[in-house]
Amino acid sequence: MTDEHYSLIDPKSGRRLDFPVLETTLGPNVIDVTGLYGQCGVFTYDPGFGTTASCTSDVTFVDGEEGVLLYRGYPIEQLAEHSSFTEVAYLLLYGDLPTADQLRAFDYSLCTHTMINESLLRFFNGFHHNAHPMAMVSGVVASMSAFYHDTTDIHMPHDRDVFAHRIIAKLPTIAAAAYKHSKGQPFVYPLNSLDYCSNTLHMFFSVPSDDYEVDPVAAQALDLLFILHADHEQNCSTSTVRLAGSSGTNPYAAIAAGISALWGPAHGGANEAVINMLEDIGTANNIPKYIDRAKDGSDPFRLMGFGHRVYKNHDPRATIIRKMCHRLLERLRANDTPLFDLALKLEEVALKDDYFVEKNLYPNVDFYSGIIYRALGIPKSMFTVMFAIARCVGWVTHWREMVTDPGTRIGRPRQLYVGPDKRDYLALDERG
Ligand code: ACO
Repeated sequence: MTDEHYSLIDPKSGRRLDFPVLETTLGPNVIDVTGLYGQCGVFTYDPGFGTTASCTSDVTFVDGEEGVLLYRGYPIEQLAEHSSFTEVAYLLLYGDLPTADQLRAFDYSLCTHTMINESLLRFFNGFHHNAHPMAMVSGVVASMSAFYHDTTDIHMPHDRDVFAHRIIAKLPTIAAAAYKHSKGQPFVYPLNSLDYCSNTLHMFFSVPSDDYEVDPVAAQALDLLFILHADHEQNCSTSTVRLAGSSGTNPYAAIAAGISALWGPAHGGANEAVINMLEDIGTANNIPKYIDRAKDGSDPFRLMGFGHRVYKNHDPRATIIRKMCHRLLERLRANDTPLFDLALKLEEVALKDDYFVEKNLYPNVDFYSGIIYRALGIPKSMFTVMFAIARCVGWVTHWREMVTDPGTRIGRPRQLYVGPDKRDYLALDERG
């Protein structure tokens, strides 16, 4: 806590009320308004939580004005350059970069949890062949609570650790099963001699009738995307996991809630929506038409992959991916260059347009991630599932932080009620 206070005069009593200011390590300080209702009987109103800190956290820091993203203090640029996804997962979960032995032990632990129960696998047969993979994945993850309900005591550190390793290890297996189901291909079991991302690609793309060797460039690209998507402080899906988890629910159920929140096009579904939009635009000649639609307040169309609730200057993850796109498309010899060129043209036009400049709308990470996923051979409907695999690390980390924070209370926002005043029930024959 700082020595500062924010004061306001209660208009009813004329009393001066002081609210303590809490100090942050980075970013703006925070006014503690927990005593507001008790002292003057009013709530605060902040739809979308644009100015409200819902918790204390020491995991990730985002500075939207400067375009800064730090995981446990480390800049995303350095992690993207030097680290691996499982190392970043360890960092997020445990707070510090692992030693070589710690990383080996963590990777080994993840390997021992990659398989899923055979009964869980049979669930996929119940889904229609064209079920959206996000629907399958959120359903199957929720059902994991039925498998581990009695061995997941959220108050036991050991159980929390096993849960964390289990869900991080099994999510690629579940995602691959959803993909194989939609393709009508046999499920491929995990291969524990492979690293996390190579194993993910193996489960997606190998078939029993043919040899499959994971392309190391593809595995490296996936690893980078997973690092960039691993956490982003109190975003919509992470806040959903925290809110669901604050009731003490089974953590698999809380993660399933996060997967559902991620699915929406304003959040994780944007990467799929970007490719749909680029395909609709088709050629550079059509760009002005789509820019006009995005600017037209009466048209619900938005330029997908543009804008961010927090980043109002640039999204540092977008800068990293943009650089990688050219290099990767070349190395993967992907034939998606025209789509990437169209994306670059659209970006160029939008960034010069007054509407986008004045509203601080810049490309976000998902403006480019879909292009890389496509080059890896991953279908559009799976893009958000890939995002979920990466973000699962952030969800689990925040869930653990929330459960172990003695200050945690069940999440229960207030409201600004604008419905009818109290009125008496009228019998059916008395209603006009
Ligand atoms: N295209 C056109 N106009 C836009 C866009 C866009 N992509 N994004 C915002 N605007 C406009 C809004 O219409 C609004 O205009 P107004 O002031 O005239 O009403 C203004 O910019 C502010 O937009 P809000 O929706 O209030 O901003 P908010 O912070 O609530 O939303 C969001 C952020 C949801 C990301 C939004 O920019 C958007 O819908 N973008 C497209 C979807 C997308 O790319 N989502 C991915 C986010 S990144 C992630 O989840 C990993």
